[in-house]
Amino acid sequence: MKVGLTFDLRSEYLKQGFSEEETAEFDRDDTVVAIEETLNKIGYRTERIGNIRQLAEALVNGKRWDIVFNICEGLYGIGREAQVPALLDAYQVPYVFSGPLVLALTLHKGLTKSVIRDAGIPTPAFNLVRSVEEVDRIKLPCPLFAKPVAEGTGKGIDASSVINNYAELKERCKYLLDRFRQPVLVETFLSGREFTVGIVGTGDEAHSVGVMEILLNPDAERNVYSYVNKEEYEELVMYELSTGSEARACEKVALNAWKALYCEDAGRVDIRFDHKGIPNFVEVNPLAGLHPFHSDLPILSGKNGVTYPELLRMIMNSAIKKIK
Ligand SMILES: Nc1ncnc2c1ncn2[C@@H]1O[C@H](COP(=O)(O)OP(=O)(O)OP(=O)(O)O)[C@@H](O)[C@H]1O
Ligand SMILES: [Mg+2]
Repeated sequence: MKVGLTFDLRSEYLKQGFSEEETAEFDRDDTVVAIEETLNKIGYRTERIGNIRQLAEALVNGKRWDIVFNICEGLYGIGREAQVPALLDAYQVPYVFSGPLVLALTLHKGLTKSVIRDAGIPTPAFNLVRSVEEVDRIKLPCPLFAKPVAEGTGKGIDASSVINNYAELKERCKYLLDRFRQPVLVETFLSGREFTVGIVGTGDEAHSVGVMEILLNPDAERNVYSYVNKEEYEELVMYELSTGSEARACEKVALNAWKALYCEDAGRVDIRFDHKGIPNFVEVNPLAGLHPFHSDLPILSGKNGVTYPELLRMIMNSAIKKIK
């Protein structure tokens, strides 16, 4: 079976003059190499396609694949993650991971939370702030948490994301609006322990491949799994496999969220406990990082005894059911 690979390489965009932060979500060369070599090892033929422009050119020139393994995060617009699967749908080429509806929705953390709340899944109360004036309309009690509504990899998140009063909230919203040019998601601060759940499968076949607690070292930015803590995780963060009752509670929330959002094949759901000890949905990552040693999904799977080849085998087994 011929598997095309679509990806956004960080190194290529850095060469074109994009900044470290602009390219933070893009993939390292060794991630693509690892995916390619592992797919070959488990019996798939692979062909590198590249980013959306290279994909578009290949499709127009009549190239086709049995399935495309898509990890493109995209560059422009709120639909950036949805663009590759939308294009593949147009050419009736099946692909691994979620489709355009899910990838466009979940990039917007506010709209995603509306769906999650509607499904009866616990998630902090929230407001969207589109201008500094709108801060005056917020009625949520502090402490609050503020983040850009559509970024990942901890962008715009640091120790000042935790808000203790409305003066701080105004200042933070002003900073985030100026810097990221998109609405700010303001939500109740979750003060409890933090976990991330790895999921493989679609619908009723979705299951957890492991739950990992995020533990911050004393030198880390406090309280948050921030941009800096993520970039320097080897010194600042400890990851611990979780297997007890908290893990089961996190899995339940994560799987309910995964199914409510119609996510496909594999990804991660981030969970944090509130002050009452209830696990809350924070966000879902339907295109989770796949670096074999540095990304959370392979790390938590490995800690749970699921090797990288086994993880990719399970992901492919889920995805090839989409080939008609
Ligand atoms: N409401 C909240 N209360 C407490 N902490 C929060 C809240 N929302 C986010 N955080 C903290 O900020 C971190 C990053 O938030 P979130 O997962 O939404 O961002 P991200 O940048 O999309 O992450 P990823 O790298 O997983 O894509 C969380 O892991 C958590 O530590
Ligand atoms: Mg996250």
